[in-house]
Amino acid sequence: MAYEVRGVVARSKGAPVSIETIVVPDPGPGEAVVDVQACGVCHTDLHYREGGINDDFPFLLGHEAAGVVSAVGEGVTNVAVGDHVILNWRAVCGQCRACAKGKPWYCFATHNAAQRMTLADGTELSPALGIGAFAEKNLVHSGQCTKVDPAAPPTAAGLLGCGVMAGVGAAINTGGVSRGDSVAVFGCGGVGDAAIAGSRLAGAGTIIAVDIDDRKLEWAKAMGATHTVNSKETDPVEAIKSLTGGFGVDVAIDAVGHPAVYEQAFLARDLAGTVVLVGVPNPTMKIELPLIEVFGRGGALKSSWYGDCLPSRDFPMLIDLYLQGRFDLDAFVSETIGLDDVEAAFEKMHEGEVLRSVVVF
Ligand SMILES: NC(=O)c1ccc[n+]([C@@H]2O[C@H](COP(=O)([O-])OP(=O)(O)OC[C@H]3O[C@@H](n4cnc5c(N)ncnc54)[C@H](O)[C@@H]3O)[C@@H](O)[C@H]2O)c1
Ligand SMILES: [Zn+2]
Ligand SMILES: [Zn+2]
Repeated sequence: MAYEVRGVVARSKGAPVSIETIVVPDPGPGEAVVDVQACGVCHTDLHYREGGINDDFPFLLGHEAAGVVSAVGEGVTNVAVGDHVILNWRAVCGQCRACAKGKPWYCFATHNAAQRMTLADGTELSPALGIGAFAEKNLVHSGQCTKVDPAAPPTAAGLLGCGVMAGVGAAINTGGVSRGDSVAVFGCGGVGDAAIAGSRLAGAGTIIAVDIDDRKLEWAKAMGATHTVNSKETDPVEAIKSLTGGFGVDVAIDAVGHPAVYEQAFLARDLAGTVVLVGVPNPTMKIELPLIEVFGRGGALKSSWYGDCLPSRDFPMLIDLYLQGRFDLDAFVSETIGLDDVEAAFEKMHEGEVLRSVVVF
């Protein structure tokens, strides 16, 4: 029997989201239904609403979530009813080119639920990042459920489902930040601050936070930034060079996804350093860089999809660090809100008033 629950839907490009009745089918083979307990508002949800990801409206938004498995379909063995899980958007297939090469964190054929959640009139919904968790119940592929220690509250755990994992992974997995490295992070929202916290966890020496909003820079300090630069007032490339003996940083992370910011990150890195793009650009954006500089500076220009994470490896590890008091997930939660408040949360995100608003059920 299908369930009818409330969910947050983006019906058309740029229009405010609405609360709709969502029909969630019983799980089929390999699928699971999860009672969502908490779901963070990520900037990518706003990108979906703005039509910046694709045009497959209507979208069921929300993808940074934790909950409890309430039903499983035939053949599901990795989770059972009652398990506390974080939802992931990288249910690895085990068979694609990346998986076959032993690099499942790049999996090119990740699993999502085969059935669709719909509106009451049968219109199929496109779930954000194959999840769609701004809803009381959520149908996913069972591989999208990563079991974690229930001692971690869902408001904190859910953050690992997207933004915090993306940021931590951009620093540690993609950027390879290691003890003593210098790092600059451009854009100190949930993702950028997680890159800062991840760099601290990895033992970075100098961690420079760059943002255009002083409030964000204050929060970034609490996450582990050793220096801050307001790039509206100060040239960030010059500032970063002067903080690093004139050379630039080992790892420069763009957590905004804008050509001007990417260029700053490119120029603010030391020879043989690494640039990581984790912010998501829109499809019209372009960059122009002198090719001689791309060559002459050496190093690596990398992109980070979901922090190159492997959920089965990284979620339980970060939850353990959280429970040991070594990684403060609670610091990312600016407010808890209800489902009706997602549109207001987008506004607060846009105005820079929050790091993460988290919908609780
Ligand atoms: N690669 C991935 O897998 C992945 C996962 C999650 C989110 N994202 C993307 O990461 C980006 C950040 O997400 P978020 O949730 O942290 O967003 P956010 O809105 O909370 O934070 C963005 C931050 O960037 C700052 N900013 C804006 N313009 C700037 C500029 N020109 N220079 C410096 N700082 C600037 C803002 O003040 C804000 O603090 C988004 O593009 C999001 O879609 C990527
Ligand atoms: Zn694969
Ligand atoms: Zn996200």
